[in-house]
Amino acid sequence: MGAMGRIEQQHHDHGERLTRGELEALQLERLRATLQRVYDRVPFYRQSFDRAGLHPDDCRSLADLARFPFTTKADLRENYPFGMFAVPRPEVRRIHASSGTTGRPTVVGYTERDLDLWADVVARAIRAAGGRPGDVVHIAYGYGLFTGGLGAHYGAERLGCTVVPASGGMTDRQVRLIQDFRPEIIMVTPSYMLTLLDEMERQGIDPRATSLRTGIFGAEPWTEEMRREIEDRLGIDAVDIYGLSEVIGPGVAQEYAETKDGLHVFEDHFLPEVVDPFTGEVLPDGEPGELVFTSLTKEAMPVVRYRTRDLTRLLPGTARPAFRRMERVTGRTDDMIILRGVNLYPSNIEEILLRTPGIAPHFQLRLTREGRMDALTVRAEARREAGPADREAAAAAVVRAVKEGVGVSVAVEIVDPETLDRSVGKIKRIVDLRNP
Ligand code: DLL
Repeated sequence: MGAMGRIEQQHHDHGERLTRGELEALQLERLRATLQRVYDRVPFYRQSFDRAGLHPDDCRSLADLARFPFTTKADLRENYPFGMFAVPRPEVRRIHASSGTTGRPTVVGYTERDLDLWADVVARAIRAAGGRPGDVVHIAYGYGLFTGGLGAHYGAERLGCTVVPASGGMTDRQVRLIQDFRPEIIMVTPSYMLTLLDEMERQGIDPRATSLRTGIFGAEPWTEEMRREIEDRLGIDAVDIYGLSEVIGPGVAQEYAETKDGLHVFEDHFLPEVVDPFTGEVLPDGEPGELVFTSLTKEAMPVVRYRTRDLTRLLPGTARPAFRRMERVTGRTDDMIILRGVNLYPSNIEEILLRTPGIAPHFQLRLTREGRMDALTVRAEARREAGPADREAAAAAVVRAVKEGVGVSVAVEIVDPETLDRSVGKIKRIVDLRNP
């Protein structure tokens, strides 16, 4: 093998080198062990399997998983805080929680081996994004109960990078740190990246002249149009990272820099299914639906058929042929707006806004009720250079594009630059004013 071959080899870890057949054999073995583990150790799963008349031994093939019951966010909430743990509490080394907009947060736990696994999968994700040992990684995902900051942190350290744990917020300082420490990689939500870009420009810094080479963006939906916006303005490669706390945090799936064609699911640890969100029926690969995950190697809080509420579809692997890809998440079932019978997601609007000249990538969706009808107002910021006539033309173009592309009438308000709230983490696009 030549030098190139050897270098390339180092960039694939053991799991990435499996054939599809080897991977599926490993998945089945790990799946059966996981089902047995939760049946023995977590009363919730024992009851739910018993109620369905199923025993872990009934899972003889990967397809048998479809017979097992789903787990939902409500199930996790009902077992708040530690009821889903499959190990005695003292073996839990770390707790994270997702904020949850209503009621109790969802709590997740990690053993020492889980933390080790998590660092491994995030290290794989950063390497897939083009990161290499010795790279400086600026982490602007929030540190704390949110899994973004600490998840990215230990993965970057595991890969052998130099980590700058900036966390979210103090935007002017972030820009100074980027100038001074010269990171090659930034890990941040795409919406906060936009905030950082605006701040660079405000400070008179040319974003394309920074040391940044790669951005690893996730934790919220973003579109191809947003990728282009960020790549052009910052002069970097922007790739997608996906994960959710209930499954582990970031590091469940990653877009490879070499193909930039959606996210390869790290299937040696996380088994994906796509189901019909209404009937729960498993859909064949290629068909869009709700993503469902079963963890294959977690100890403290394995999940079986966890309903993510994220919408995507599964496609064959490319950069790593054994892993299937998931298409960029276009929306969540709970972010779906039903407007006069038409379903739409914030990403539908994002695509249209970013293709419209004169409009900056900052927007908000306001839902109101006029009589018995729901109405949607798209509020978007004008780009600095857009004059009154440009703004008027832009608003009309968006109204038309939404009507044609989505099939529904909306109102569009173009507001002055820098008037909408900026993101410091996950952005909230929908402002629901229907129920005062
Ligand atoms: O957001 C974990 C994470 C942190 C992923 C940093 C990537 C980077 P939660 O707070 O539990 O965990 O939120 C999970 O965020 O179900 C999706 O709806 C959404 N989400 C995460 N990544 C993406 C992505 C973290 N790349 C929820 N594209 C998920 C679209 C994403 N949505």
